[in-house]
Amino acid sequence: MRRPLEISVVGGCGHVGLPLSVSLSSAGFQVVAFDISSGAVEKVNSGISPFWEPGLDEALGLALANGFQAQTNSNFIAKSDVVIVIVGTPIDVHLNPDPNAVVKAVEEIVSKLNNDQLLILRSTVFPGVTTQVERLLRRLGLQTSVVFCPERIAEGFAMKELFELPQIIGARTDEDFKRASEVFESLGIKVIHTTPEEAELAKLFTNTWRYIKFAAANQFWMMANDSGVNFENVRNAIRFEYPRASDFPAAGFTAGPCLFKDTMQLAAFSNNTFALGNSAMMINEGLPFYIVERLSNKYDLGNTKVGLLGMAFKGESDDNRSSLAYKLKRILKFKSGGVLTSDPYVKNDADLVSEEEVVEKSDLLIISAPHLRYKQLATDKPIVDIWNLRGEGSAV
Ligand SMILES: NC(=O)c1ccc[n+]([C@@H]2O[C@H](COP(=O)([O-])OP(=O)(O)OC[C@H]3O[C@@H](n4cnc5c(N)ncnc54)[C@H](O)[C@@H]3O)[C@@H](O)[C@H]2O)c1
Repeated sequence: MRRPLEISVVGGCGHVGLPLSVSLSSAGFQVVAFDISSGAVEKVNSGISPFWEPGLDEALGLALANGFQAQTNSNFIAKSDVVIVIVGTPIDVHLNPDPNAVVKAVEEIVSKLNNDQLLILRSTVFPGVTTQVERLLRRLGLQTSVVFCPERIAEGFAMKELFELPQIIGARTDEDFKRASEVFESLGIKVIHTTPEEAELAKLFTNTWRYIKFAAANQFWMMANDSGVNFENVRNAIRFEYPRASDFPAAGFTAGPCLFKDTMQLAAFSNNTFALGNSAMMINEGLPFYIVERLSNKYDLGNTKVGLLGMAFKGESDDNRSSLAYKLKRILKFKSGGVLTSDPYVKNDADLVSEEEVVEKSDLLIISAPHLRYKQLATDKPIVDIWNLRGEGSAV
């Protein structure tokens, strides 16, 4: 009988690395997550996911029982058939991508790679990174096959979507495509063959497309709001039995570690001539300023204590990476009579106080992350709710 493939996942304790690792383990592969974060490795090996992801703790428990483990040393890579790289690829404070993040991660493990392995790049990358990695390997005399297979899950849906979303496989040869297909088809999903360059752009276009759609909704919301028209009524009317507008998003903070960052990667890739992407960035990143501006027309903001409900970048999540709630907090700290913040899920923010304290001590409340609990929040204080969670309208 053929032995199960052995798979190393580099960055395997991260938000996308861990769900993928345990899912591949459930599909019967021998999987080891290699990660430089000893804290995350420790947590994973004790059966606790380092972050919120529904269904992950249960799947992790099963995976550990089936032999999955996390390690801070990269030794397992040398005996792996398949090596998946899924490290973070952030932009810097000047919005520049680091096209070398993945190349560097590969450089660090290169002594463990061999010609028979399949190297799957899965981070969202600046276009051309697959070629850079191939060049690095060939320069060192390695013939390791390299494919680019982007991750397209949304946080909070990983354990469902990993078993549903088709996998784009950017492979130079049919043989490489077949080898990568064996990995992803084990999750019961369909695969589609492109070149690595097509797959790199497919991932960036996917996220940027969403970012631009949210920007359009946010701009429409501001237009309606400025002219005193109820945006919710307009949106409902547009979507009513009209399938072509079924994906018309609601207004809301468009934030988090991916959409903005990937739009900026594409902007840099197009030599900063990506007018649509830059406009979307100005609209989405401008929303906290717009809200504060509107509030300062309505309230004596300098003497108003403002309470922010929710600091995560999306509803029900503990992830506050690149959350616009923090930008709102920064602006309000400057312009209001004080800001209090709370979030029932976020764990890494020492400034947070309880929801009760925020509600009690604030004159004005802003829902800054759409956690569903705020639908029911009982208070007679004014609440700004651009998501219209409470069904009372999103006007500011
Ligand atoms: N978060 C998402 O929902 C999502 C969805 C699709 C794609 N992506 C993309 O996936 C990639 C990873 O994102 P993430 O959110 O999982 O990031 P993350 O920061 O949560 O995870 C990255 C992990 O890699 C580890 N790491 C960093 N450098 C390493 C190295 N050299 N060797 C071994 N481990 C290393 C870190 O310790 C961390 O645990 C990014 O390119 C991102 O754009 C993310």
